[in-house]
Amino acid sequence: MTDQAPDQAAARAAATATGPLLRTDGLTRHFRIGGGISRKTLHAVDDVSLAIGEREIVALAGESGSGKSTIARLLARIYQPTSGEIYFQGEPLSGLRSREQMLRYRSLVPMVFQDPFSSINPVFRVSHGILRGLKLHRPELSKPQRAAEAARVFETVGLTPAAEVLQRYPHELSGGQRQRVGFAQALALRPKLILADEPVSMLDVSIRIGLLNLMAELRDSQGVSILYITHDIASARYIADRLIVMYAGQIAEAGPVEDVLASPRHPYTQLLLSAVPDPRAPLSITAETDRGEPPRVIDPVPGCRFRWRCPLAIDECSHVTPQLRQLLPDHDAACHVARADAGIRAFG
Ligand SMILES: Nc1ncnc2c1ncn2[C@@H]1O[C@H](COP(=O)(O)OP(=O)(O)OP(=O)(O)O)[C@@H](O)[C@H]1O
Ligand SMILES: [Mg+2]
Repeated sequence: MTDQAPDQAAARAAATATGPLLRTDGLTRHFRIGGGISRKTLHAVDDVSLAIGEREIVALAGESGSGKSTIARLLARIYQPTSGEIYFQGEPLSGLRSREQMLRYRSLVPMVFQDPFSSINPVFRVSHGILRGLKLHRPELSKPQRAAEAARVFETVGLTPAAEVLQRYPHELSGGQRQRVGFAQALALRPKLILADEPVSMLDVSIRIGLLNLMAELRDSQGVSILYITHDIASARYIADRLIVMYAGQIAEAGPVEDVLASPRHPYTQLLLSAVPDPRAPLSITAETDRGEPPRVIDPVPGCRFRWRCPLAIDECSHVTPQLRQLLPDHDAACHVARADAGIRAFG
């Protein structure tokens, strides 16, 4: 499959010339919690500006509660932003008004969940979900065309023989197969960008690699982009083109995955990597590093949210929120102390 893949560098250069597939500008989502005088505001996502190119896998990593799923739900338009904007192919999503426009966007940017069957009635066969999606999003297809399309995408994601797998019930599939069904359902909509929220985290390590390879194949052969949400830095390194590290609702660091992992500039990224004795081994961010400040951000004051855990914190960090700034070409960090040269190490 990869020998047919267009040259990645050329594709990326073209995408850069025409602008990213999707970008956010100051994306923010707050939740009101409590009531009466104990009413507070939880800042799940604050001022996030990111971009996803054509044919690009962008990994979004960070510990539990750092806002990863909230970003995915904002991009999927399941949540509305408190402020900020999302642009898809240059058009602001706030401009999507009609049901038809919304359906069209959701077919171009579908979401794959941790367990695609958790919310689905187990009495339906596997074919039910994909045929229903095709009927809704591609009404031009006849019933036999829908069946043929379902079989085609099942073959594409390695669920073979497709005719037989489509007739199974969810409990007759392995975890890896269920996750492939999730990708098949997304693929049937002819997406440009798949939002994959921890698609492999419930799978055995031995099964994960097959799913990761599938995602890379979908990028290379189908030309889709993927936002890959994960706790596992090693899997991000394995398939992602770029890595965005989240901390407490904000981007801490972002750049090409190899650059960020080889020379992390933000002390938080350094902390993450120092917790991995072998960078190729799977890393559970929560298990290894979830010490210190809890990442729930309630009515925050200005300042760096990592400062309580940061050995390099200076006075400025306690009252000025660091903005994401470019330290190296295409490599940004939100830190007052971080420098372009590698001299400053907080951890590791
Ligand atoms: N609908 C909601 N109402 C209130 N708070 C919410 C809601 N959704 C998310 N949050 C809060 O927003 C913060 C970010 O949650 P989010 O689910 O985005 O984190 P995450 O990075 O995906 O975590 P995990 O790795 O555990 O999946 C958390 O503090 C969470 O409790
Ligand atoms: Mg999540």
